[in-house]
Amino acid sequence: MNDLGCVLWFTGLSGSGKSTLSRLIENELRNRNLNVEVLDGDEVRENLSKGLGFSKEDRDTNIRRIGYVAKLLSRNGTIAITAAISPYADVRRQCRAMCGKFVEIHTDCSIEELTRRDVKGLYAKAISGEIKNFTGISDPYEPPESPEIRVNSETQTPEESLQVILDWLEENSVISAFEGGEPSTA
Ligand code: ADX
Repeated sequence: MNDLGCVLWFTGLSGSGKSTLSRLIENELRNRNLNVEVLDGDEVRENLSKGLGFSKEDRDTNIRRIGYVAKLLSRNGTIAITAAISPYADVRRQCRAMCGKFVEIHTDCSIEELTRRDVKGLYAKAISGEIKNFTGISDPYEPPESPEIRVNSETQTPEESLQVILDWLEENSVISAFEGGEPSTA
């Protein structure tokens, strides 16, 4: 067993880049021969949390489940990457307390930009009232006050954000720059 297990916990509005970045990190870490699993919000809702809605109670249940699985994975040496909106600070704090090494990553992006992009067409529906309780429009999002890492999909490309995250993980010894490869002699 290794001691590389940790939780990389993304939080941010729908469309802010959580899934994209979690997949980029997943690839990068796999290439370094590390054990990685992604718990993606949309995927979890198809499986582990099927049937749950978007009330505060259901969201909190969803997030606690994700936190629980992330805890199990991380304590077995896997880097567990979670990518759910996780809008409420209190339940994010509970997940942090439950897990060992916990790195919170806020994917920031303005509502204006997310509404302009509207990749899934959900913001238009939320603004027209067709979808109720939509995070950032008609439901709260509590941004983390002091996440370990903050990236911004409005001002950074995904590759730039990925680099910010990898740099932080290396600087804080969560991963080694040499993981899975030959140490540089330079
Ligand atoms: S969370 O609040 O419980 O963390 P989660 O990340 O699992 O949310 O699911 C968010 C995804 O569900 C969004 O990316 C979007 O595709 C979809 N969705 C559907 N209805 C809503 C809603 N009312 N609020 C937010 N996202 C919604």
